[in-house]
Amino acid sequence: MVRINSDYGKLQGSYLFSTIAKKVGQYSEEQPDRKIIRLGIGDVTRPLTPAVIKALHEAVDEMGEEKTFRGYAPDLGYDFLRKAICDNDYRSRGCDIGQDEIFVSDGAKPDSGNIQEIFAKDDRIGVCDPVYPVYIDSNVMAGRTGDYDIKSGRYAGVVYLDCTKENGFCPDLPEEDCDIIYLCSPNNPTGTALTKDRLQDWVDYANKKGSVIIFDAAYEAYISDEDVPHSIYECEGARECAIELHSFSKNAGFTGLRLGYATVPKDLKREGVSLNTLWARRHATKYNGAPYIVQRAGEAVYSYEGRKEIRGLVDYYMENARVIRSGLEKAGYEAYGGVNSPYIWMKTPEGMSSWDFFDYLLREANVVGTPGVGFGSCGEGYFRLTAFGSHENTREAVDRICRL
Ligand code: MLT
Repeated sequence: MVRINSDYGKLQGSYLFSTIAKKVGQYSEEQPDRKIIRLGIGDVTRPLTPAVIKALHEAVDEMGEEKTFRGYAPDLGYDFLRKAICDNDYRSRGCDIGQDEIFVSDGAKPDSGNIQEIFAKDDRIGVCDPVYPVYIDSNVMAGRTGDYDIKSGRYAGVVYLDCTKENGFCPDLPEEDCDIIYLCSPNNPTGTALTKDRLQDWVDYANKKGSVIIFDAAYEAYISDEDVPHSIYECEGARECAIELHSFSKNAGFTGLRLGYATVPKDLKREGVSLNTLWARRHATKYNGAPYIVQRAGEAVYSYEGRKEIRGLVDYYMENARVIRSGLEKAGYEAYGGVNSPYIWMKTPEGMSSWDFFDYLLREANVVGTPGVGFGSCGEGYFRLTAFGSHENTREAVDRICRL
């Protein structure tokens, strides 16, 4: 008889955003007349921009003609997109990254879940607490985390990097060694960002210990502070220790279209093996390439018009971030983030737990957010709001919260 992967049994409950969707679904069935405003999951609400739509239409037409029809995409991505990424996201920032170090994919979530496959099962992971749940859950499924301890809310075999008010929600270097380190900056969920100096410390640490950093840069388009790097490769030595993940979801609104990429430099080697070669092998075996029409849409993001339009999207959401953070502060809440990031991390009032505040806000203000504890035990007593709503809904949500 077949046996199942028992490591799945160590996962805690259902995926955070599925739990929230279920709770909100139940509430709207009970109260069908209430207008619920969703500032929970970080899903965008603005439509795709004209340059992207034009590229999609043209690519669809090409697919309908025998001469321009395309079958399987190259496993690692079309050259036109890899070149656009390389020129715009790296070369223009002075980062030494080549086109053949870029692996086009269907998003940063799958990449961040899959990347652990190229590491040994007994490698130890280091994750921030609070953290984007995919980093931990994918390692639980792979049997890398040890058992879960209900009391602490933590896995025995994981090194947790506490991100608290005291350290400005930026992780300090760990005392215990860790092999695979997940960093996300600007951070999901706390909305804070690592300065170049802080990130350089991590790069130096990884090079000294032989660790590898998985750097999730999904929110880099939201950076406004000069001292916050857009790429880990702005740091010296990062080519030898870091993999970087990017998404087209949060900057260009591709959450429903799906596109991202991973950068694995050729200088990144462990035990004499190139991680670039390993990831290429994995990609070629398990992935048939992002759709041609989506890659053309991705290319359009880097066109002159595309870049202008994407700036407009980011500015739109950042206006929401400003409204949320300043509204909360005026009403006496403690709030963080929302400056280099579309996420606002607020302290729950009067010592309320994260889930109690979730229920309270849902029932009393009909506003949905994400309980901080869903991202880890250090998130208890915090709550995340996203700036990805419309201006109108965001203002209304803030008014409702402040009136409570
Ligand atoms: C979030 O809300 O944390 C994000 O939407 C998650 C994601 O991008 O998968």
